[in-house]
Amino acid sequence: MNKMLDVNNIEFFEKVETPFWFYDMDLLRATVGKVVSLAGRYGIDVHYAVKANEEKRILEYISSMGLGADCVSGNEVIHARDCGFPADRIVFAGVGKSDREIADALKAGASFNCESLQEIFIVNAMASRLGIRAKVSVRINPGVDAHTHRYITTGTYENKFGISDYEFAPLVDLLGRCSCIDFTGLHFHVGSQITDVEEVFSLVCTRVNSIVEWFEKRGLEVRNINLGGGLGVDYEDPDGQPIADFETWFGTVSGKIRRRAGQSLHLEPGRSIVAQCGTLVSRVLFVKVGETKNFLILDAGMNDLIRPALYGAYHRIENLSARLRPNLPQSQVYDVVGPVCESSDVWGAGRFLPLSVRGDLMAIRSAGAYGQSMSSRYNLRDLAPAVYSDDMHGARLRTEYFQE
Ligand code: LLP
Repeated sequence: MNKMLDVNNIEFFEKVETPFWFYDMDLLRATVGKVVSLAGRYGIDVHYAVKANEEKRILEYISSMGLGADCVSGNEVIHARDCGFPADRIVFAGVGKSDREIADALKAGASFNCESLQEIFIVNAMASRLGIRAKVSVRINPGVDAHTHRYITTGTYENKFGISDYEFAPLVDLLGRCSCIDFTGLHFHVGSQITDVEEVFSLVCTRVNSIVEWFEKRGLEVRNINLGGGLGVDYEDPDGQPIADFETWFGTVSGKIRRRAGQSLHLEPGRSIVAQCGTLVSRVLFVKVGETKNFLILDAGMNDLIRPALYGAYHRIENLSARLRPNLPQSQVYDVVGPVCESSDVWGAGRFLPLSVRGDLMAIRSAGAYGQSMSSRYNLRDLAPAVYSDDMHGARLRTEYFQE
């Protein structure tokens, strides 16, 4: 059971200032443990996608377990290094790297996933100026639809990511002329929250096999094949399968990718590692009976977790305080909303919840990935702090409140 739902913890949370991010560290450990054991079994090298959650404690734990870091900004590269990832396990990816970021990453000893010919040219020039050799993999746009939300699909020809087929020949030519680049391999990432895992990754692997063969025939040794991240999690039922189906993902890719001796296979999961261990804990500020609807107005908003407003994403909502009064099971329909001055600041419309009152603790589940890392100070609201299941002393206690 997620530590979130433990009655003793809920009793403690009643005294804590909300909103806050709660992380079940046992679930994080169990998830990473599963990844490490499958990675060993299938011979897959795993880099964690830092953008999903860059909290220091989480990164320190993941680095201590030997995973690498997939970073998408100069700041992520430096932060990953500060959280214990060795330089040779840090990859700097992303479609738009600034000159300063490229220089910082080169000096930090990170390797690169480059996304355009122009970028490769610049990385080579900067490495030459710094007297450093750059390790570069090239991201390819494989033209595969990931069957996911259009904002998080990245591998079709409509998307800005990667190099397209028509540039393959000029790419081989350019790499031949880049004297400060060590070409390491090819990178692919077709999208996020992929639930048709076997179908989508089988297609990806078929495309990747032929692209790798094309490059090797032209004399480029593809040492690393990187298939990116994308494994989906169950937002509807976070407790049904709290650890994502890594088995199917690792099994599919390792079965379908043709690997010759000495060629390594990489994956870059983000969401599937951290989503289910994180919960946004909030409180009902007001219960508002509207003309046609009942609203629960929470103290957490779209600035904390933007996924519902940005993607129309579903997050399960639970009334935690109601778990302490199980003899009052009345079910009500509520629109659960946040305090931000935007009509899209809605956690969920028409949700069935136990009768809820001012002060009730509400859990917004599966919020560990792209939650805290995407939060902002919109409306000049405070950033919600993190509370870890194995170190709850850090939690800030409530000072001001008015009990009706
Ligand atoms: N590798 C690359 C190159 C990526 O662009 C991403 C995510 C990952 C790995 C990790 O993918 P994951 O395993 O987490 O699916 N903010 C959105 C998700 C954006 C994903 C961006 N790229 C959301 O909240 O759904």
